[in-house]
Amino acid sequence: MSDVRPASMERITTPQLADAFIAQQIKEVQAQVGDKKVLLALSGGVDSSVVAALLIKAIGKQLVCVHVNHGLMRKGESEEVIEVFRNQLDANLVYVDATDRFLNLLEGVDEPEKKRKIIGGEFIKVFDEEARKLEGISFLAQGTIYPDILESDGVKAHHNVGGLPEEMQFELVEPVKLLYKDEVRVVGKALGLPASMVDRQPFPGPGLGVRCLGAITRDRLHALREADAILREEFDKNGLATKVWQYFIAVPDMKSVGVKDDKRYEGWPAIIRAVNTKDAMTATIEEIPYEILHHITNRITHEVDGINRVLLDLTPKPIGTIEWE
Ligand code: XMP
Repeated sequence: MSDVRPASMERITTPQLADAFIAQQIKEVQAQVGDKKVLLALSGGVDSSVVAALLIKAIGKQLVCVHVNHGLMRKGESEEVIEVFRNQLDANLVYVDATDRFLNLLEGVDEPEKKRKIIGGEFIKVFDEEARKLEGISFLAQGTIYPDILESDGVKAHHNVGGLPEEMQFELVEPVKLLYKDEVRVVGKALGLPASMVDRQPFPGPGLGVRCLGAITRDRLHALREADAILREEFDKNGLATKVWQYFIAVPDMKSVGVKDDKRYEGWPAIIRAVNTKDAMTATIEEIPYEILHHITNRITHEVDGINRVLLDLTPKPIGTIEWE
């Protein structure tokens, strides 16, 4: 397959078009791979999940998926990967809980770029170690999509597995590389993946690591994960999940004074970021009804240990980037 999308290629918008695409890709992948084994880093994001489901259809157990939990996933995400791929799709899935490795390395590191480098570097190390344990791998599958090719130094560049050591370079299998994101989602639905996976928001490779600001500590990371889960639950319940492109919590490394049960209560603020955008280059702020904001504030401050305030970020991009980092 070339890296250029032919002008004649129809945009995949319906289940029928998705089925035709899937049938064609199954044939192409089978022809490319034969009876060899394929390795895939399965993050649980939309692109790698769709590639995994497609390859399971095409080559079954010849696909080996490796899911590295770096300890910076959103609440429930690694569990969902295991449930969907190992339990429902009967995939060959290697699950690696590398939480301690990542968090130990990140201890005391507060510089954003340094944190990113540590997370990216360690990810490759863990993945590489797992790959070496496996025998007879000939191909590496990747969830590259068309925008990644068009802007090859785009947002994905810093978290794709592009940095494997020399001797670990395999021939690539990239079945969705000519598709736009919306098409990948239609294909994912046709493959039977759950909506929670296919409609998932973009999630940075370094995960909650870019939202737990400054030096990450386990207690603050835990508070962030719990607060973020409440935000997602309330957005889902109140119909905001389909209206807002990306929403999450960031927790800075600072405390302020509060009061709880008549006692002084120092805690971190949870910052709500909820933006709309087409391409993540610019972003606007979606209006959230005050009633919902009050409810979310009430839940987070009462249910999450260590959080004593909830703030709303009203800054468009530019000038604020989407992530706080
Ligand atoms: P910023 O913060 O630059 O983010 O306005 C723009 C979009 O990119 C996402 N983002 C990432 N996505 N790997 C990714 O795949 C990353 O390392 C990464 N960092 C930021 C961010 O969530 C937003 O959607």
